[in-house]
Amino acid sequence: MVPILKKQYNKMEGVKIIQLPKIIDKRGNLSFFENSNQIPFDIKRTYWIYDVPGGEQRGSHAFKKSHEFIIALSGSFDLVLNDGNIEEKYSLNRSYNGVYIPNLLWRRLENFSTNSLALIVSSISYDHNDYIRDYEEFKTIIDGVKK
Ligand code: TYD
Repeated sequence: MVPILKKQYNKMEGVKIIQLPKIIDKRGNLSFFENSNQIPFDIKRTYWIYDVPGGEQRGSHAFKKSHEFIIALSGSFDLVLNDGNIEEKYSLNRSYNGVYIPNLLWRRLENFSTNSLALIVSSISYDHNDYIRDYEEFKTIIDGVKK
């Protein structure tokens, strides 16, 4: 008899490091992304995080529905992702490399360099109901998805 293997919940599989086009030019380089091109969703919102004092963290939460793409336009910071089980850290320090984050992943930004600029595009308009701000609630939701 063939055992039925339950696929282990691994939301991390959906995370993608995306290298954006880089148009090298002696006058200065240029990169871009377009709605649904380069990144795997329709962009509904753009926001950015800047002037972060040394040692501060941002965004310790998960989203129920929204997908995001994060890029360090300037300087550097670390993106820490947690699927309720394992944690992965991505150091972002290039203005042409970003990370696509599916919904239902706990994420925080930390270790910001001076003058760093984090650009984030989201698949939905701002909705405070889409946030999961309590890690235990996140784990409960993840456990429900696993079943
Ligand atoms: P929030 O996403 O909670 O930041 P962090 O998780 O890093 O603490 O956003 C902080 C505040 O900014 C929050 O009160 C709502 C507001 N905000 C908007 O109005 N629109 C947006 O697109 C975002 C991301 C935040």
